[in-house]
Amino acid sequence: MSKVAVVGAGTMGNGIAHVFAQRGWETSLIDVSQDALDRGVATIKKNLERQTKRGAVSGARCAEILERIETSTSLDAAKDAEIVIEAATEDPEIKFMIFRDLDRRAPPGAILASNTSSISINEIAAQTKRPNAVVGMHFMNPVPVMTLVEIIRGKATSEDTVSKTVAIAKELGKTPVEVNDAPGFVSNRVLMPMINEAIFCVQDGIATPQAVDEVMKLGMGHPLGPLALADLIGLDVCLSIMRVLQDGLDRQKYRPAPLLEKMVTAGKLGRKSGQGFYAYRD
Ligand SMILES: NC(=O)c1ccc[n+]([C@@H]2O[C@H](COP(=O)([O-])OP(=O)(O)OC[C@H]3O[C@@H](n4cnc5c(N)ncnc54)[C@H](O)[C@@H]3O)[C@@H](O)[C@H]2O)c1
Repeated sequence: MSKVAVVGAGTMGNGIAHVFAQRGWETSLIDVSQDALDRGVATIKKNLERQTKRGAVSGARCAEILERIETSTSLDAAKDAEIVIEAATEDPEIKFMIFRDLDRRAPPGAILASNTSSISINEIAAQTKRPNAVVGMHFMNPVPVMTLVEIIRGKATSEDTVSKTVAIAKELGKTPVEVNDAPGFVSNRVLMPMINEAIFCVQDGIATPQAVDEVMKLGMGHPLGPLALADLIGLDVCLSIMRVLQDGLDRQKYRPAPLLEKMVTAGKLGRKSGQGFYAYRD
């Protein structure tokens, strides 16, 4: 049976584990925090129950899917994985450390993929002795719902790695789109400056968060306004991505909105902390 290891059990990691296990993969979910693992599995359970209520998955299949997911606080759980997907905190130093460690522990021939939103795949690959096996596999949030997977080809990524990653994304029922490595790739090079600009509109007193979101939903046909989307992504993740764009492209053009920095410092991270541009009860 195919085996995947997912590193990081937060917003994205638990969603990625969910879709792999649902497609029949043996899944190891790894995090440094036992608490994050417990919350990650609880989220998968809740989302599966939602799918059951909609009639998309039977109760018996839910139990089977959950049984395929094992949790661990050690990267050793990646030792027999065909593909490892790193979905840890968006911080270059954390990712570099994980990839150095994975290079030692993952089996030869394994694909080492990162779900990073913005950090250079070339720099991540350079941490390993197998840069040909390193690729970006950028899922969208919420993973069980969104079909796009941005596949990021680094300078050293082999054709074999890209074609296997594309095939795995298709097997999961997703639509892979290939792009080259650059800060923010395509998705966040375009999306994040829009979110940042929406935050400037609130900061400058031009409109309330509700008004900004209404303009973009009704006027531009966006299903979710940029500030509700920022809350879903996590304001800390948005700030990290803006900093990567700023460092890698242009300091002034990609300057994070001071309001975004203030909210992150105050612990207002969006849905995951219960408060962002909107308040969340659950
Ligand atoms: N949130 C989004 O909408 C979104 C969308 C696409 C991609 N991403 C990317 O996915 C990755 C994860 O983002 P997230 O929103 O799930 O973050 P998150 O903050 O919800 O979760 C990150 C998890 O990583 C864990 N972690 C930290 N250091 C670790 C280590 N050394 N080993 C193992 N686990 C570790 C943390 O304990 C935490 O549980 C980031 O690279 C982010 O840019 C996020």
